[in-house]
Amino acid sequence: MRQKLVIGNWKMHGSLAANAALLDGIKAASARATLAVCAPFPYLAQCQTLLSGSQVAWGAQDVSAEARGAFTGEVAASMLAEFGVSYALVGHSERRTYHGETNATVAAKALRALEFGIVPVVCVGETLAEREARQTEAVVGRQLQAVLDALSIEQLGRIVLAYEPVWAIGTGKTASSAQAQAVHAVLRAQVAGKDAGVASRMAILYGGSVKPDNAAELFSMSDIDGGLIGGASLKADDFLAIGNA
Ligand code: PGA
Repeated sequence: MRQKLVIGNWKMHGSLAANAALLDGIKAASARATLAVCAPFPYLAQCQTLLSGSQVAWGAQDVSAEARGAFTGEVAASMLAEFGVSYALVGHSERRTYHGETNATVAAKALRALEFGIVPVVCVGETLAEREARQTEAVVGRQLQAVLDALSIEQLGRIVLAYEPVWAIGTGKTASSAQAQAVHAVLRAQVAGKDAGVASRMAILYGGSVKPDNAAELFSMSDIDGGLIGGASLKADDFLAIGNA
């Protein structure tokens, strides 16, 4: 059976006090899925302190494609590894949109994370205009292909994929379970084109306005292995309810 995984993406939210309360709430309970939280960089040390020895893993929201050097403002995978980071989001649509990340950059970031034993959570997804133009499969296909081309089969076996339709992120509009499943099946088939075994084992998460009341239906689909949760990951009860869905 594939791993069931629910990852919180705090985005640019939080404070030392708010995070401590949230993490206390999350780690006190148990969930059926593996749980992780992706915190802003300054709070990774706090996550390491508060979550070490718990069932909850932590991750970063981005990672530099570069190893080290004169890259002001960037954070290296080697640095994340020193803070016990298990996951790094790469290619989140907000990074692609506001920071001009290309498919090639995203693939390079995934490779760099893997080099330091960090699982890249590779995010793909189409805009509303692309969906309406019936370009969904072409767009997510290109986003995924850049990663398939850059990684070996062994490396691919260590990534997590996340399908996040841009029109569903933070909008309260979720893809229907059928819409999401259809894209997840296409993505898995594309991975299978490179290696069927890796495809059958790869966790593919859905993200975009996942809430306690829609999570169970989404997660019941055969190719949806969990979720990448933004807004609802900031409330312990909601995040845990999704983790138990
Ligand atoms: P949302 O965000 O759950 O608030 O829609 C998801 C994401 O951007 O990862």
